[in-house]
Amino acid sequence: MRVSIVVAAAENGVIGAGGGIPWRLPDDQRLFKRLTSGHTVVMGRGTHESIGRLLPGRTTIVVSRNPDYSVAQAFVADSLEAALDLARARGESETFVVGGGSLYALALPLANGLYLTRVHAEVEGDVTFPDPAAAPGAGWKLEEEQEHAADEHHAQAFTFQRWERTGDCAGRSAARTLSALLD
Ligand SMILES: NC(=O)c1ccc[n+]([C@@H]2O[C@H](COP(=O)([O-])OP(=O)(O)OC[C@H]3O[C@@H](n4cnc5c(N)ncnc54)[C@H](OP(=O)(O)O)[C@@H]3O)[C@@H](O)[C@H]2O)c1
Repeated sequence: MRVSIVVAAAENGVIGAGGGIPWRLPDDQRLFKRLTSGHTVVMGRGTHESIGRLLPGRTTIVVSRNPDYSVAQAFVADSLEAALDLARARGESETFVVGGGSLYALALPLANGLYLTRVHAEVEGDVTFPDPAAAPGAGWKLEEEQEHAADEHHAQAFTFQRWERTGDCAGRSAARTLSALLD
């Protein structure tokens, strides 16, 4: 089973503010829906509660340390590993880790793919994307890039990037590149 991270991060690494996402980019939301539909999404309890509902057309696994936590029509797992084991056991081909900050930190060392929307703004916030270069042995290669200008529906310009783990230490320079992009 493939494990992919999907995240939108500002130039300064910010991904969240006050429990929410500090921008609204409909075309990025559409991309997120297209990527994840029909698949399993794994998210931290914080993100689940900030969305406030289940995302239709996807299987949701919420990660929480609270053994009493439950979500109607979704699964709850007590670790990222348990969530991925469950998705694997259900025959999933690709599972998407969709946030927030703490789940991204857990997923970075083991993800195969990274769908990164770089939001071209410095944004104030209280949750940031972890430094990919800190992931052990992490090397990443940029496979695809698509720019989107700001317009009447998008206050910020953004660039969608698809990164693939190279799986070797020679890829460390790519990890540094990615890290630098988020500095
Ligand atoms: N820009 C983006 O692409 C994007 C995407 C998603 C979310 N966000 C933003 O990110 C923010 C939320 O991120 P966050 O880091 O505060 O919360 P989070 O990662 O969504 O959830 C944190 C919770 O996950 C559980 N958890 C974390 N690590 C765990 C572990 N090792 N084992 C078991 N459970 C664990 C804990 O739940 P319990 O307390 O129940 O144990 C913890 O309180 C929000 O602002 C949201 O809008 C941004």
